[in-house]
Amino acid sequence: SGYFTYDPGFTSTASCDSAITYIDGDKGVLLHRGYSIEDLAENCDFLEVCHLLLRGELPKAQELEDFRNTITYHTMVHEQLMNFFRGFRRDAHPMAVMVGVVGALSAFYHDSTDINDPEQRMIASHRLVAKMPTIAAMAYKYSIGQPFMYPRNDLSYAHNFLRMTFGVPAEDYEVAPAVVRAMDRIFILHADHEQNASTSTVRLAGSSGANPFACISAGISSLWGPAHGGANEAVLNMLTEIGDKKNIPEFLARAKDKDDPFRLMGFGHRVYKNYDPRAGVLKKSCDEVLDQLGVQDPLLELARELEKIALEDDYFVQRKLFPNVDFYSGIILKAIGFPTSMFTVLFALARTVGWVAQWNEMIADPHQKIGRPRQLFLGHDQREFVPVDKR
Ligand code: CMC
Repeated sequence: SGYFTYDPGFTSTASCDSAITYIDGDKGVLLHRGYSIEDLAENCDFLEVCHLLLRGELPKAQELEDFRNTITYHTMVHEQLMNFFRGFRRDAHPMAVMVGVVGALSAFYHDSTDINDPEQRMIASHRLVAKMPTIAAMAYKYSIGQPFMYPRNDLSYAHNFLRMTFGVPAEDYEVAPAVVRAMDRIFILHADHEQNASTSTVRLAGSSGANPFACISAGISSLWGPAHGGANEAVLNMLTEIGDKKNIPEFLARAKDKDDPFRLMGFGHRVYKNYDPRAGVLKKSCDEVLDQLGVQDPLLELARELEKIALEDDYFVQRKLFPNVDFYSGIILKAIGFPTSMFTVLFALARTVGWVAQWNEMIADPHQKIGRPRQLFLGHDQREFVPVDKR
């Protein structure tokens, strides 16, 4: 009882301490365990970054090989899990499928849900990182009516995922190394981002002692919204709707109009009041990937123009609204061949390692308490009860 801080949207409340990810929003800096996102995206493969987030250090060569073996050991899903997919309509949004199927993992892996045992926590974390590509690819295969593909553990994390998504059983799957690299880089850029809405959801769900698979399913639900991970899908839809450079002013006017709920998707961020460093890396990648694939997408041209005009506009300048990670990622994903409905699924796949790293950090903290915000009550004072026939 007594005094609480009223802080809707947690704009100035730290909910935890953490040693995983550091953001300086004014300078546009993002560090994982001290390493810049630019360095990691340029030089690492995704599993190295997973090791860094989960274990605190970049792996030495032997550690990386052991970690790779540990992850690939868990890539298959229980055969019975396939039945869950078959219960969905084929036109279900793949994020709806992900929420359900990942939540259902709770019912399969009882042997890794004693959260007080650090070893079981690590097994659950490895399982989640390993199985997400398999489940995400299955969600796609189910939606297009093709057979599920089993994982191939001799391939890299990104390559295996692309094969499970775009390959078919009786044929070799060929993919340009540039595409594998681009996929891997997108995973790295989405791996963690401190206490965003979905990570905070995972922590809050986990703070009650709930099992990790259920917590990650909660994180996926939170990520789905268009203000968060759903923005990558919304950006592509928005660019398609704008259609032509000549329509940009009309959409900018709508974004600035306070009576219109439309916002410029892929713009703005709670913490970054400068260029999102992830958007910087992706903008460069976009050019490279489209170039190497020989794809000419007029949407890229349109996105560049939109960014240019917005960054010169007083409204966006005053509010420090810059492109965020979701602004350019969709154009690359489209060039690789993903339908827009899969974009947020890819975000969830990549963010899983961040979620489990943050969840582990929380559970291991001896001062950890159940998350339980207070409220500012604005309802009735106590009043007299009136029976139904007298109301
Ligand atoms: N278009 C137009 N106006 C905007 C936008 C935008 N995209 N973003 C913020 N504003 C305005 C907002 O209307 C407000 O104006 P005013 O001060 O006049 O009322 C001001 O900027 C501050 O906005 P806010 O809503 O108080 O800021 P927030 O920190 O609560 O919201 C955000 C952050 C990311 C939800 C928001 O910028 C947004 O909705 N952006 C579009 C969706 C998007 O791209 N989301 C992806 C976020 S990054 C990665 C991820 O999480 O997935």
